[in-house]
Amino acid sequence: MFDTLTPPEADKILKLMAMFAADERPEKVDLGVGVYRTPDGRTPVMKAVKQAEERIWQSQESKSYVGLAGDPGFHHAMGDLILGDTADPTRVAAIATPGGTGAVRQIMELMRNTSPDATLWISDPSWPNHMAIAQYLRLNVRRYRYYDVETGGLDRDGMMADLASIQRGDLVLFHGCCHNPSGAELTAQDWRDLGALLDRTGAIPFIDIAYQGFGEGLDEDAEGTRILAQMLPEVLIAASCSKNFGLYRDRAGVAFALASGEEAKGKAQAALASLNRQNYSFPPDHGARVVDTILHDPELAATWWTELTAMREGMLATRAALTQALQAETGSDRFGFLASHRGMFSLIGATPDQVETLRNDHAIYVVGDGRMNVAGLTPASIPKVAKALAQVLT
Ligand code: LMR
Repeated sequence: MFDTLTPPEADKILKLMAMFAADERPEKVDLGVGVYRTPDGRTPVMKAVKQAEERIWQSQESKSYVGLAGDPGFHHAMGDLILGDTADPTRVAAIATPGGTGAVRQIMELMRNTSPDATLWISDPSWPNHMAIAQYLRLNVRRYRYYDVETGGLDRDGMMADLASIQRGDLVLFHGCCHNPSGAELTAQDWRDLGALLDRTGAIPFIDIAYQGFGEGLDEDAEGTRILAQMLPEVLIAASCSKNFGLYRDRAGVAFALASGEEAKGKAQAALASLNRQNYSFPPDHGARVVDTILHDPELAATWWTELTAMREGMLATRAALTQALQAETGSDRFGFLASHRGMFSLIGATPDQVETLRNDHAIYVVGDGRMNVAGLTPASIPKVAKALAQVLT
């Protein structure tokens, strides 16, 4: 049976990871995959995570199954973190999932099962796996404009013009914060305007929030999600703990379905739990339990908050330093938009050829669409990267 297989199209982020690993040049700089790095290039286990793991190791007496939906303590902790007090818990259905991608997948499957004729609207650009999963599930997909390459900011008019065609029951996928790959953010007013549009048309927001705490702050980064949760009867949310808890390989994520009332919530809960059962039975527990332990303990939560704040402030400082270095190299504000972007990523406006030149001639790895992981820069690599960008892109 394997003889007939055709190789699947490689994900551009994963392909780049393999190319970087195979590159033997010692001066190589990895600005590809979305993994946070300290100024000396490490991705350490967070202290709060280590301490929570120690407590779990001491106290956990069984590894028996938890439940199809996962640990309710984890759902509540993540619900509080993301929604604050904007959503009455009686309308919130939740399942633990293997990472944020697991939640994206479950929500897209829910959509396929319940609204096969609806359209999923995905921003252009978006994380490549959004499109890949939607196509794998054969969903009807349309793109909406999001990023203005000329200004390096949001293409608000393009977005609103494209979303004017949404229909009742369609799902519109938004990045809760730290848009991947562009780095361009929606303002609170943009979220309110989008909420009004969705309310008018009866379309449903599907928010992927994978970088809460990496942009402006935990509450600030959840503002858009909270605005929509208050304005609309139905909201779908896929959340990841990979980045803000540094739990990448432990695969901790959650899918929320906010329903119009308790009865609908019960139906959503049953549908989501059944999707877990069909796809992998019980969701992974370890990472979710670590998050639950941290968020329910004031001391651990404070340690985590301090670590997360340091990560965010480090990324903001890196953005400022890179922008300044580029200004010095180019004598212009051409790359000024980098300082206004938020999160790990920015689109730097490089063509595929320029991306290749950066890789071949300068050992600098950015994703093919010109996405740079700012968190991959270090004080030592910033001058070299700024020089190369100025040379190749101008
Ligand atoms: C990224 O966008 O680089 C990360 O979310 C890692 C991934 O799975 O693609």
